[in-house]
Amino acid sequence: MKRLLLLLALAPAVALAAPKPDGTERQTARPWTGGVDIFETPGREQELKLPSVFRVLGIKSGKKVADVGAGGGWLSIRMARAVGPSGTVYAQDILPKYTQFIDERARYEGLPNIKTVLGTVTDPKLPTNTLDSVVILNAYHEFDQPLAMLTKIKRAMKTGARLGIIERDTDELRLEAQQAYEESGEILRRVGEQDDQNDLTDDHTLALDIVQREAEKVGFRFISSHELGNDKYLAVFQK
Ligand SMILES: C[S@@+](CC[C@H](N)C(=O)[O-])C[C@H]1O[C@@H](n2cnc3c(N)ncnc32)[C@H](O)[C@@H]1O
Repeated sequence: MKRLLLLLALAPAVALAAPKPDGTERQTARPWTGGVDIFETPGREQELKLPSVFRVLGIKSGKKVADVGAGGGWLSIRMARAVGPSGTVYAQDILPKYTQFIDERARYEGLPNIKTVLGTVTDPKLPTNTLDSVVILNAYHEFDQPLAMLTKIKRAMKTGARLGIIERDTDELRLEAQQAYEESGEILRRVGEQDDQNDLTDDHTLALDIVQREAEKVGFRFISSHELGNDKYLAVFQK
């Protein structure tokens, strides 16, 4: 009986360590399902240094771009203004309530160049060989199967197109991730969470090192990383 209780107590940790169907072995956060107000904070444009993010990713007039994990569309709206009427923004998410919200928002803002796309956790459902730039803002750490998603995102991009992933970490987490890789040779886990922690959504950090290794694993070329405000970073990749 004691042995059974012990096994039950260990069960969540064992389940978390099992590889996902796409081969990912690290933990991921549960997708956000709540309100979108928290992404509309004043000063977010400055914190994210949005003009330089757009510059380094080539988001400008006439381009076809995607906002993957768009949530309430805070970024989609700004991308739509940047690409203008001759460009297109694919605002993608896995939850219909967010894509519907963005549809209404785009109508209200008079931005017909936003097309919403409903994807799945393994396929963003974006058109093949079409995109000039893709941004994943504060969503990559929630992707249940990040390697499957990156593979399909890459397929949707033109050759030479750029992908920008914006996440949050600290120097300590970055170092920890590098050391973990050097010791094991594998991208083992989501750094920023304890293995024995119950609530996986508590901490939404993801070390740059992990993002870089995963993108390189599916064939992206790492171009550069940029420090943004509030411990956020932009990792830039090219197809
Ligand atoms: C924390 S919210 C960020 C929303 C938005 N990018 C922003 O920063 O304003 C994360 C979003 O990612 C979406 N998401 C989670 N997993 C996803 C996946 N596999 N593919 C696409 N979107 C996903 C969630 O539904 C949620 O809308």
